[in-house]
Amino acid sequence: MDIFELITNDHEKILHIFDQLEKTRHKASKNKDSLFEKLHNEIEIHATAEEHTFYPALQLFEQAKDKVIESLEEHHVVRLLLSELQKLDKSDEHWDAKLTVLKENIEHHMSEEEGPVFDMAQDFMDEEQLDDIGRQFQKDKKEIKAHI
Ligand SMILES: [Fe+2]
Ligand SMILES: [Fe+2]
Repeated sequence: MDIFELITNDHEKILHIFDQLEKTRHKASKNKDSLFEKLHNEIEIHATAEEHTFYPALQLFEQAKDKVIESLEEHHVVRLLLSELQKLDKSDEHWDAKLTVLKENIEHHMSEEEGPVFDMAQDFMDEEQLDDIGRQFQKDKKEIKAHI
């Protein structure tokens, strides 16, 4: 599996958890707690593995640098929203609104990655490199998961 497939699969998995969370709107519950924890972990593992493997490889190409920095800033905003959601009581009326803002941010970020960012990686790297990054990405995710 190449890096593009691995990243896209993770994105779908994350969006699916958002769909499940949507059904818990306007009420706090144990289910909502565990879905949010799952979402938080999946995003953290995914973003960190991208930051350890995919983005450093892409950043070696000068023309990709600005796009990489933009992506890393988007990760930063996502983490800020996640930490605010973590602190806020789930029965607070702002919680669901904040989750919607998080989802909008993430959807924007995913479409950037799956669009212009993947296009750049495809242009600059060969199949062997992309497979190699895919292997590193999977290995990194396992290591992060073990320490979360
Ligand atoms: Fe991603
Ligand atoms: Fe990302």
